[in-house]
Amino acid sequence: MTRPDTWTLVLDGWDPADEGRREALCTLANGYLGTRGALPESSADGVHYPGTYAAGVFNRLSDVGDGVAVENESMVNLPNWLDLRVAVEDEAWLDVSAGRVLEHRTQLDTARGVLHRTTRFVDGAGRHTRLHQRRFVHRERRHLAGLHTSVVAEDWSGRLTVASGVDGTVTNSGVARYRHLSGRHLEVLATEETADDTVLLTAATTQSRHRVAVGARTRVTAPADAPVVRAPDLAPGRIGHRLTVGVRAGETVEIEKIAAVVTSRDVAIAEPALAAAGLLAEAPGFEELLAEHTRSWARLWHRCRIELVDGEQPASPTTVRDLRLAGFHVLQTVTRHALDLDAGLPARGLHGEAYRGHVFWDELFVLPVLVLRFPALARALLLYRVRRLDAARRAARAAGHRGAMYPWQSGSDGREESQRLHLNPLSGRWLPDTSDRQRHVGLAIAYDLWQYVQATGDLAFLTDEGGAEVLLEVARFFADLAEHDPADDRFHIRGVMGPDEYTTRYPGSDRPGIDDNAYTNVLTVWVLRRARELLDLLPPSRREALTAALDLGPTELRHWREVGERMAVPIHGDGVISQFAGYRDLPDLDWDAYRRRYGDLQRLDRILEAEGRSVDDYQASKQADVLMLFYLFSADELRDLLGGLGYALPPEAIPRTIDHYLARTAHGSTLSALVHAWVLARAHREEALDHFDRVVRSDVADLQGGTTAEGVHLGAMAGAVDLVQRCFAGVETRGDVLRFNPHWPGRSGVLELTLQYRGRPLTARVTDREVCVAADDGPGRPVRVAVGDEVHDLWPGQTVRLRLPRAPSPVPAGRGTG
Ligand code: BGC
Repeated sequence: MTRPDTWTLVLDGWDPADEGRREALCTLANGYLGTRGALPESSADGVHYPGTYAAGVFNRLSDVGDGVAVENESMVNLPNWLDLRVAVEDEAWLDVSAGRVLEHRTQLDTARGVLHRTTRFVDGAGRHTRLHQRRFVHRERRHLAGLHTSVVAEDWSGRLTVASGVDGTVTNSGVARYRHLSGRHLEVLATEETADDTVLLTAATTQSRHRVAVGARTRVTAPADAPVVRAPDLAPGRIGHRLTVGVRAGETVEIEKIAAVVTSRDVAIAEPALAAAGLLAEAPGFEELLAEHTRSWARLWHRCRIELVDGEQPASPTTVRDLRLAGFHVLQTVTRHALDLDAGLPARGLHGEAYRGHVFWDELFVLPVLVLRFPALARALLLYRVRRLDAARRAARAAGHRGAMYPWQSGSDGREESQRLHLNPLSGRWLPDTSDRQRHVGLAIAYDLWQYVQATGDLAFLTDEGGAEVLLEVARFFADLAEHDPADDRFHIRGVMGPDEYTTRYPGSDRPGIDDNAYTNVLTVWVLRRARELLDLLPPSRREALTAALDLGPTELRHWREVGERMAVPIHGDGVISQFAGYRDLPDLDWDAYRRRYGDLQRLDRILEAEGRSVDDYQASKQADVLMLFYLFSADELRDLLGGLGYALPPEAIPRTIDHYLARTAHGSTLSALVHAWVLARAHREEALDHFDRVVRSDVADLQGGTTAEGVHLGAMAGAVDLVQRCFAGVETRGDVLRFNPHWPGRSGVLELTLQYRGRPLTARVTDREVCVAADDGPGRPVRVAVGDEVHDLWPGQTVRLRLPRAPSPVPAGRGTG
């Protein structure tokens, strides 16, 4: 029996309604550049959407609606380098949408980072033509991408015409809801031929004035050296070549196109057009570039191995494939090219235009995967925040607060990019969008930063690179946001939104936000504690310099301590942590009735609004909010945090809290299933595996019904990998020790994964009985690894076998995360 291929996503047949999802899933990227898996002969027409994006290249456009000017910043769709069409004799360009397709298949090879496309056409005259294309976005040479096309004239002889160029007439129009807003971000400045076989288009973004040069070198190899006639192929905003060649039945014409994309944001260039032309003049041929690229992917996968092997009931090959696909998209979106890009993590990758390429809190879900493999990449994402500290300080000041208030949606310069209105497609109404009240994004940044330092021990990031300032300024902002109420002698944070974006205000209130979101308040306490710990961690001279620079004196520190000890957290009489103050006074929704009526309730907010109601009026959450606390903290840590505030968290309160929200969450964000899988993993493994399945299939199955076409959900994709490593394998970095606390189902066999801890590459094999950790050989100090109380110094080249202290699968009476 052949082993199922878990590395290839195969998409068979032609389905125009599904093309958007396929294009997003088949995006190839290298962290610097991303190109959707659109067919090279296609243009944006409602079915196809060729999109190429460079990380960090944003532009702003303004529109006036109802007399009010609205400005939006978007990641710009760059000139389309794929642009390649072929025609047989005098027929129209081959086009899958125009029918006459006998076979059509797309295959994404995630082991090598190569996209294959095969289509067989029959034309009006009954001639059969087969087209095979291979494509890469080069992992090492960040500016280069390649497309190889072979055209087989199966049963005809005659003329084949190829048009290949660069199309600068593209706009941002990939998301239907934004299409009424302006989308023309580029002005074409120049088109030129830089060599016989090379064209170059230079454009500028209209507001940010980035220059973008996209060049393409097209070479045709004709059978039996038949002459190739090349002519310029020009149209406004587009430059290319038209090549004609004679072909006989059974012969193949090979067309290789190498593209270069360079922008004025890039380092180590003199000027984009010069750089792009130079790169194309020097670039080797397609096969050589492809070989380099696939070798690079092989090295990368070696470093990021996750294998599920030898189980009696191992995970299905489809699950393994989907897990690899998820890892693939994360690894190709955040790469070492991120180190000098200053681009942050766009929530929907370089894969589409949803959320306009903005950066949210999603790195909270991606960083754990990076920190345990590529700490430098995690650091690069954190530096994106460090550089925007002043913008966050300005935002805090403008809101009347001290410290740093990071934006919910961030783009080029760190100002708030959240939209002010959003469309409910069900009712056709535009509604106020107050999601920027999610102040908790700053807390997530502080949490990310701390996790990074825990995993790496990189104190220099704190002291020399601005990490400490970010954490302290976030702490300062939240301490200032908290208001003391003498009535209960507690601090309260009012008028914010938690991660649950459904709840925007109290019923009937015109004041946006809710009070005392438990997640925000508890995380504030955690950050205030870490801020103090951080100051203790620093050498006295550094501490003094820092506190002097921030004007952080004993009075303010005392205030932080008070807030950290007297923060209000709404906890109901039955022990259930309340999502916010007054949450439990809201009525319950009749979930069963709504489910019967509408089936899918992921967009319950839109359903209720279209009915003339409001989701604000019910105990209903879009995604995990309170349960985020169990995702970020162990039960002991949470108990300790609440205990410090004078609240108890008895064991039975945990399953009660989890059950309460499980029954009232619509999972309208892909992040929700991820958090639920995590929270359930300890005690309700089967249910957790169901949620895991949802996470891993979020995009491949487009579980949100249409959102994948607009870009993949990187948080969920990374989350799927993270569930395997941190949740099922129980990997944790705490107190200078790499700990394993696996909850790995025995029937799933062996889980093997490669990690990096404190600079040492490690391979861990996890079963339901033991964890075996092998350290790569080489010079250096040991790292400390542990299972339970058994801590070992693991020297380079050594392997340690740690038996799990308890038998697998104890199922306690209630749920728990203990
Ligand atoms: C979720 C947010 C998330 C954003 C970007 C939204 O639907 O509610 O939590 O940050 O998508 O992924």
